[in-house]
Amino acid sequence: MLLNRFEKALMNNPVRVLVQRRIEARRLLALGGRMTGGVALEVGCGQGVGTEIILDVFGARRVDAFDFDADMVAIARRRLEKHGRPAHVWQGDAAAIAAPDCAYEAVFDFGIIHHVVAWRDALKEVRRVLKPGGRFYAEEVLRRFIVHPINRRLFDHPFETCFDHHEFRTGLAEAGLRVQAATQFWGCVGWFVADRDD
Ligand SMILES: C[S@@+](CC[C@H](N)C(=O)[O-])C[C@H]1O[C@@H](n2cnc3c(N)ncnc32)[C@H](O)[C@@H]1O
Repeated sequence: MLLNRFEKALMNNPVRVLVQRRIEARRLLALGGRMTGGVALEVGCGQGVGTEIILDVFGARRVDAFDFDADMVAIARRRLEKHGRPAHVWQGDAAAIAAPDCAYEAVFDFGIIHHVVAWRDALKEVRRVLKPGGRFYAEEVLRRFIVHPINRRLFDHPFETCFDHHEFRTGLAEAGLRVQAATQFWGCVGWFVADRDD
């Protein structure tokens, strides 16, 4: 679903870039390590900083990326094209990923699947587009943050379908993604690394 104005402003500013680079990416790297080259997919790429991180920090050769919001797609495209990065960006939905089966060495989710009502379907789609043995890196916002009364006023999250750390792990397993490492901060944010289970 589309972000409200408040969250969109939070996602499109230099502080977000710092948090994503200095905290979120480092946590995921510590949990899951670098890719061994290859092509990665980023679901819900926002302004495109995650795609830069996947290239620079995780070592992908090329990144495909999509976002539900056409404005975000335009921002990400501008950013990545300006610096000639090996990336392809399109408008799409994580619950029905426009990519063939077994296409990617890795899939990255920087905090978007909590926006998807059919989040279990999104995890099945992640598994479908991963190569056998491919790796899913996810950083997710969890129920405790989403249902807090202040956050419910500030953000437009689908709170009926939000998940906690355990439920997301279970969703990964049910989708055929074997959790290799996971951690959380106060039931508010979780980091997960899971491999396609075949
Ligand atoms: C919290 S923002 C995170 C953006 C970016 N990953 C980042 O870390 O800055 C969530 C993003 O998910 C996108 N989004 C929401 N629902 C989506 C869906 N069903 N499929 C793909 N992207 C979606 C939103 O447009 C938004 O850009």
